[in-house]
Amino acid sequence: MTEKDIVEHLQVAISAANRAGAFVLEAEKQGNHAIYQKQANDFVTETDKLSEDLIISIIREHFPSDAIFGEETGSSGTLENGRWIIDPIDGTTNFFRSLPDYSISIAWEMDPFKPLVGVVFNPRQNELFWASKGGGAFLNGKPIQVSQLKDSSHALIVCVPPHRHHKLAVPYFENMYRIFLETSDLRSYGSCALELSYIAAGRIDGYYELCLGYYDMAAGICILEEAGGSFAPADPLVPFSDSRCDLVATNGLIQDWLFHMVQE
Ligand code: IPD
Ligand code: CA
Ligand code: CA
Repeated sequence: MTEKDIVEHLQVAISAANRAGAFVLEAEKQGNHAIYQKQANDFVTETDKLSEDLIISIIREHFPSDAIFGEETGSSGTLENGRWIIDPIDGTTNFFRSLPDYSISIAWEMDPFKPLVGVVFNPRQNELFWASKGGGAFLNGKPIQVSQLKDSSHALIVCVPPHRHHKLAVPYFENMYRIFLETSDLRSYGSCALELSYIAAGRIDGYYELCLGYYDMAAGICILEEAGGSFAPADPLVPFSDSRCDLVATNGLIQDWLFHMVQE
């Protein structure tokens, strides 16, 4: 795998995110979404599925046999040339409730859970975040960097209760209550990919969520790392998997502190 491979994959990811973003934005304007429930508090619309089909067709034009792991269509292709990880709309509930924080999220990696390319596009705000390994992180073409905040008492932290796993609510809120008491304030945007990108851009400082899918965060962690941030499994004994990621992510400077706060 060469620098050129990474650039080629990045270009295709950007083009697919732009085209899917335009498609999803137009669908939002049309309204009348067919909404299906996958499990408790987990929704998919026809537009999610069509967005994923569109992204896959664009990837396949350039890389016909690469492995692809998409939220709505699962896994296909051979792993030899790496794999693409797609969330066709991250923040589906925001999308069908006409809230502005949703995104298209596309990553590419050679080794599992080490994304080399990450692209997150919010078509409502026209914000395109991207990064490639060793190439830096960007928002609409301008380099971005995490906040330089070291003092957790001034930090803004993303709080996302385990809305699909209510039995985890007590430990989550106990941890978050202690975090809340030691920080400036909490935020919640409803799109993991955007929340990671917002930390990368220095807008917020930390994030703690349980039970993410890898497609929620693959592109975002690449962007975050390239902007100087850090991330880790919330429980060191439970590594990331495709179906479950418990995540602590920060600007790097408060990573040890936030990681420590969620160990009880
Ligand atoms: C969801 C969003 C949300 C997060 C959920 C995800 P979806 O993705 O990222 O912010 O809290 O855990 O599943 O279902 O809208 O693609
Ligand atoms: Ca998602
Ligand atoms: Ca999704």
